[in-house]
Amino acid sequence: MYNKIDIRNVPEEKLDEIDLDTVDLELPPPELEPHRQYYYIAKCRTYVRQMAQELGRVPFLCTQTFGCQMNARDSEKLEGILEKVGYQKTEHEEEADFVIYNTCTVRENANQRVYGRLGYLGSMKKKKKHMMIALCGCMMQEPQVVEKLKKSYRFVDLIFGTHNIFKFAELLCTAMESDRMVIDIWKDTTEIVENLPVDRKYSFKSGVNIMFGCNNFCSYCIVPYVRGRERSRNPEDILHEVKKLVADGVVEIMLLGQNVNSYGKNLEQPVTFAQLLEQLEQMEGLRRIRFMTSHPKDLSDELIAVMANSKKICGHLHLPLQSGSSRILKIMNRRYTKESYLELVERIRAAVPDISLTTDIIVGFPGETEEDFQETLDVVRKVRYDSAFTFIYSRRTGTPAAAMENQVPEEIVKDRFDRLLKEVQEISKEMSGRFEGTVQEVLVEEVNTQDPSLVTGRMGNNLLVHFPGDASMIGSFCRVHLDTCKGFYYMGTPV
Ligand code: 5AD
Ligand code: SF4
Repeated sequence: MYNKIDIRNVPEEKLDEIDLDTVDLELPPPELEPHRQYYYIAKCRTYVRQMAQELGRVPFLCTQTFGCQMNARDSEKLEGILEKVGYQKTEHEEEADFVIYNTCTVRENANQRVYGRLGYLGSMKKKKKHMMIALCGCMMQEPQVVEKLKKSYRFVDLIFGTHNIFKFAELLCTAMESDRMVIDIWKDTTEIVENLPVDRKYSFKSGVNIMFGCNNFCSYCIVPYVRGRERSRNPEDILHEVKKLVADGVVEIMLLGQNVNSYGKNLEQPVTFAQLLEQLEQMEGLRRIRFMTSHPKDLSDELIAVMANSKKICGHLHLPLQSGSSRILKIMNRRYTKESYLELVERIRAAVPDISLTTDIIVGFPGETEEDFQETLDVVRKVRYDSAFTFIYSRRTGTPAAAMENQVPEEIVKDRFDRLLKEVQEISKEMSGRFEGTVQEVLVEEVNTQDPSLVTGRMGNNLLVHFPGDASMIGSFCRVHLDTCKGFYYMGTPV
């Protein structure tokens, strides 16, 4: 018999290391986070152990992540909890006993994909009664989505949103104890809970949230409504997390936020993003720093100077343009103009000459004319992006743009989209090839999926290189000669 422990007495730092089977569940749950969640993880473990006995095997979990890097990081947190609870990961939904969809709602087609797959999950659950289905993420923050799920997808066990994701273990426990649909959606939160378990997808690189939410209210975008107001993590917490990651073998981090350039503004002791980067630069063992996403209106000269002097910040900047027309940018509430954007690009390129620039562009925003679209093409030709994500404008209920009357007809948008894509791809191909013949430092990520005699690695500028190697090289840096550019990747030889 174990000696049971009162989890409230465990220091926050040590929670991740304790044997959860020793937690005294006769005691009431702790009020404080993250202790409370570890208590519920311990409780869920007892249910999952029982299920494993009934099944005669380990129960499997399957996570499906839609959308951006933030969601990918959130899914690592969900998986960290589910693994502690006693599930084992599988890639195949068919064999899973617990399926969770971490959803995105930035464009309507993301929602449609979720409904489509849910239908299939429902039919699976008919044959496998003990199976649990959970939905979370941005799409769940939309009231009409939850209404639809309540009406037509009764088989879903648990629904929660973006603000209470830190309560996942507790919600999971409630769902395991209930045979009804458990729904918990918060409108907003100011809480940030540290030190919850995480299961990283890669041993050598990791995302690190530095802020949550967005205050910008671009008129087409649903993110501020589903992710809430901007909240920055304390720099000490971020540095502490990165230090732990580095001690655990991580050499590359990606700092995550909807608008990293406004990091730290709302902290009790304000810090700038550039200052945070300078502190991370000092960290021994950390080799590469990336970040995502930068809003052009907030990108400071201080940041440009820090990037120019840094040995660790990667030579890649994602700088969403959205539109090249100052008139449309104004209606989009982007708060920069075509001219100020181009001028910013010039300043960045002057300070960091070889930098790779990538962007997001929306085609078919309400009222966009051919002239506006030509302005977008003009910026694309002037900036010459290394790559660009192009999107067809999607009408998101509740955003100001959705109520605008002059929505652009579908055929016109489609035609503009095709023309933009062609331009973007041609330029991207030329730009990607500009490093041919040089030697670059590459971080090996995996054995090549097509040819096992090769490994695939990533350069600082985010381009992929395939070259001879083996699995023992994963997570290490190699100097590689870039022999030939094959469009969007290189074939290379280690030097
Ligand atoms: N329609 C199309 N694209 C959108 N994005 C955000 N909202 C919409 C929308 N309503 C794009 C923007 C943003 C990226 C993450 O998604 O380009 O930068
Ligand atoms: Fe959406 Fe604009 Fe915020 Fe980006 S900055 S998440 S596009 S509102």
